Amino acid sequence: MGSSGKILIFDTTLRDGEQSPGVSLNVDEKSQIGRQLEKLGVDVLEAGFPVTSPGDFDAVRRLAGELKGLQVAALARASQKDIDTAWDAIKGGADPRIHIFLATSDIHLRYKLRKTREEILDMARAAVSHAKRYTGNIEFSAEDAGRSDLDFLCRAFETVIDAGASTVNFPDTVGYAVPWDFARMIRYVMEHTTNIHKAVLSVHCHNDLGLATANVLAAINEGATQVECTVNGIGERAGNTAMEEVVMAIRTRNDVLPYSTGIVTKHIMATSRLVSLLTGMAVQPNKAIVGVNAFAHESGIHQDGVLKERTTYEIIDPKDIGLAQGTLVLGKHSGRHAIKARLEEMGYRLGDDEIERVSARFKALADKKKEVFSEDLEALVAEEVLRIPGRVSDRYSLVYLHVAGGSGIRPTATVAVEVDGVEMSGASMGAGPIDAAFKAISEITKTKSRLLRFSVNSITGGTDAQGEVSVRIEEDGLVVTGQGADPDIITASAKAYLNALNRMEYRKANASQKPVERMCS
Ligand code: KIV
Ligand code: ZN
Repeated sequence: MGSSGKILIFDTTLRDGEQSPGVSLNVDEKSQIGRQLEKLGVDVLEAGFPVTSPGDFDAVRRLAGELKGLQVAALARASQKDIDTAWDAIKGGADPRIHIFLATSDIHLRYKLRKTREEILDMARAAVSHAKRYTGNIEFSAEDAGRSDLDFLCRAFETVIDAGASTVNFPDTVGYAVPWDFARMIRYVMEHTTNIHKAVLSVHCHNDLGLATANVLAAINEGATQVECTVNGIGERAGNTAMEEVVMAIRTRNDVLPYSTGIVTKHIMATSRLVSLLTGMAVQPNKAIVGVNAFAHESGIHQDGVLKERTTYEIIDPKDIGLAQGTLVLGKHSGRHAIKARLEEMGYRLGDDEIERVSARFKALADKKKEVFSEDLEALVAEEVLRIPGRVSDRYSLVYLHVAGGSGIRPTATVAVEVDGVEMSGASMGAGPIDAAFKAISEITKTKSRLLRFSVNSITGGTDAQGEVSVRIEEDGLVVTGQGADPDIITASAKAYLNALNRMEYRKANASQKPVERMCS
């Protein structure tokens, strides 16, 4: 444990998180998430992998320029070109970090890199020495450390610390570790890397066996003082360690985890929603901490217990993560000042224009829905404000939707969509009203995507609750997701589909910039 017991939070939502299948964020979206992560209190933000594409480079440069309250890191392979490009992107930052990675496991050395161990040590030393010309804030990650020979790993860490690395990272790249064995490996590294006291020891766990958070906590217990994680646990394959799980485990079980983080936990929920909305990756309902069911009590005995004393069945106070759950917002006569005040209580500071837009949507919703809850208001902010600024890709927006259906008649949808500012309409029949609406939208927009997944969640309870729809579509091998919310689930579905089509436009426009293999070292 570090002397203060402080665990540094290294957030890689915008780098490893963005490597989730189907996720592609534009520069404005990355900037919005970056500002939210700064507010959340992360210590280091990994903004991207600049050498992989001009889009990534621009995003990293913009974030390094904008965010002054944290360290902005850029990823690089152990090559001069990668390191120079990474530095070019982050050099305008307040405390920029170069993050170099190179594999150390025999399996990667033999099949991927075709290098000997001595060659790897030379490459690692040379890369860190090169980065040292620019900054002393250098992190070295031993990719696939979890399957590396531990004595060789210790030699690699000694070599890079000698060359000037200030942080050494132990990634369980393939999510192979189990907690007690991971603890043993971290202990071994602490005891057998002679100069480890000169660097921060970091861990980076993937969730292939669902053990990422458990492994990270085991590593902290052995002396790791930096955790690499993502919001909602998004990332390659089964994802990375979920930031909110580690932070809330430390806070909730401080009796056995006597550490602290700089995370302002009341911003966790808003950050989770923003990341889910902009990445298009819905959070599973039973996800720890941030899932919609994480604080829902279904059994009568539990409900009764919570009403008598919250701690009977709740180990976390929902307010601690910024979840003003079930709080009645205001009535339909509420003015913009009351809405503004409520939003501020929820952690959203919006400009006058934005308040105007959200208030208009709020009034429309309050006309349809008896009670408007904080969660509804949050969904409106997400749709009206967070998604709009700078979205270069919003070619399509819904103007109106009319469906006719019921037993005994063939469902028909009439839809009008604004395409590049021009209103166009069409009608179609389908197996159900949603199928009919999607067919009409495809005809109007002249798109030919295939629907891979469709899911609906209720934002709050009650038959007048807003439905939040998430869709995943595929076109010419590109996969994107989209989301939409509305009390009418057919309208929510149409919005989600159009949101996905907008994302698809963006992906197509940027497809040529995307590297084929983003992570080969
Ligand atoms: O999983 C991994 O090994 C990585 C490294 C680049 C840190 O993401
Ligand atoms: Zn990773």
